Amino acid sequence: MAILNILKEDKNISALRKKSRPIEIIDKRTATLLDDMRETLKEAGGIGLAAPQVGVLRRAAIIEIEEGELIEMINPEIVYREGEQQEIEGCLSSPGKFAETVRPAKIRVTYTNRNGEKKEKEGIELLARAFCHEIDHLDGILCFDKAKRILTKEEADELKKEDQEGK
Ligand code: CO
Repeated sequence: MAILNILKEDKNISALRKKSRPIEIIDKRTATLLDDMRETLKEAGGIGLAAPQVGVLRRAAIIEIEEGELIEMINPEIVYREGEQQEIEGCLSSPGKFAETVRPAKIRVTYTNRNGEKKEKEGIELLARAFCHEIDHLDGILCFDKAKRILTKEEADELKKEDQEGK
């Protein structure tokens, strides 16, 4: 396994803007890519990573919100959306920058796993946002494109604190 370089918005925006192509053949290379992406995600301390963020313009993304509960998606598609949630999200390609976005409250996705099996998974709250965020990356879309507001780390922390106090 290897830790890959995560492309950053300030230096690599043209690569991050490209649309990724479907993975037609799932083979050892796909497995290696997914393994490397997991290691890279872990090292970066994030919850999601899409292949174009490591310079591979293919439709693959991973999400690991709870340690050990890894979701590996090949050719993911959103097949159902419901409701709305407004929250703050960040992106490993844009350190120190946060977006306040409105996302669906509930999402259902279909994808293929590394064994070639078709899967369907539902997500709410953070998982719903992560699905949307990572699948957007495959189409060259960044969370800041959809932001109601773009925040610095300090502003994002302040807003999260206010939210918690309000609950
Ligand atoms: Co991102």
